[in-house]
Amino acid sequence: MPDLFDELQRAIEAEPLDTEEAIDRFRIRYLSRKQGRITELLKQIPTVAPEERKAFGQRVNRLKKLVEARIEAARERLRRSRTVARPEIDLTLPGRRPLPGSTHPLTQTLEDIKRVFTSYGFSIAEGPEIEDDWHNFTALNFPPDHPARDMQDTFFLEPPEREHGGILLRTHTSPVQIRIMESEPPPYRVIVPGRVYRNEAISYKSYCLFHQVEGLCVDEGVTLGDLKQILHAFARALFGEDVKMRFRPSFFPFTEPSAEVDIWWPDPALPNGGKWLEILGCGMVDPNVFEAVGVDPERYTGYAFGMGIERIAMLRYDIGDIRTFYENDVRFLAQF
Ligand code: DAH
Repeated sequence: MPDLFDELQRAIEAEPLDTEEAIDRFRIRYLSRKQGRITELLKQIPTVAPEERKAFGQRVNRLKKLVEARIEAARERLRRSRTVARPEIDLTLPGRRPLPGSTHPLTQTLEDIKRVFTSYGFSIAEGPEIEDDWHNFTALNFPPDHPARDMQDTFFLEPPEREHGGILLRTHTSPVQIRIMESEPPPYRVIVPGRVYRNEAISYKSYCLFHQVEGLCVDEGVTLGDLKQILHAFARALFGEDVKMRFRPSFFPFTEPSAEVDIWWPDPALPNGGKWLEILGCGMVDPNVFEAVGVDPERYTGYAFGMGIERIAMLRYDIGDIRTFYENDVRFLAQF
């Protein structure tokens, strides 16, 4: 004969009890005063044969406790799910690491260059990226037929035939020399970081935009010796105390004499144990430039220099392709 108590117990345990209503129905079904099934059984106790009465009573009471315990537990569960309305937190899961950014290698290099020159008493200036022909070329002593004025090399916003001889994206930071000298009398001791643009075929070594730092120092009695010593100090600060450096005669329209500066890059894999690499252009400000901006070339002399930041960053960090600076690939950036 199927045992009534066992059956009841199974039914009680199987009840899902996942809503307030289900709990209420469950309580009424088993415990209500009028027709609750446990209540009925409790009422029967006095009618049971005396020798079975004790065992019967115990079993009924055990079922009653089970019903009460299930109701209590179900209510507690509902209460908790209402206050914490989200999945439980699994404290055994590994945490999520915050991914802090890092300073872009170009910014790092620029910051270092700025730090070196400000420590020598240079101030920092900036100028516009959209320039006119006068500041970018003519005042810098570029002859009218200079190849740099060609559409091939320069991005023009207004073609050269128009007024001002064309509006363009500056091809170097040198026009800021002109703006500084036009705006106030000497002396000047300033560096000018900024973006420049060139209409060049894009490859691992050239990009349509890059960054330069221009330098200008003008005063009475400034000499080529001053230029050499400041650039040598700069190279030591950036590339190490025992850096080897050379001045190689060169040509720029706005300086006379002009030079390019190379540093020796040791590389045991090369036949000579290394190679010379150009890091910047420089020279003594050409008197024609002073004339163009109204600075007296009889009284003042000065030097200027200009360097590419990408080039220097590629050397310092051993980067082989200039385009990686602009791709924002986190695998690249995270290395710095
Ligand atoms: N403006 C030159 C360039 O973009 C770099 C340069 C060379 C700047 C010599 C200077 C300088 O100030 O004196 O290639």
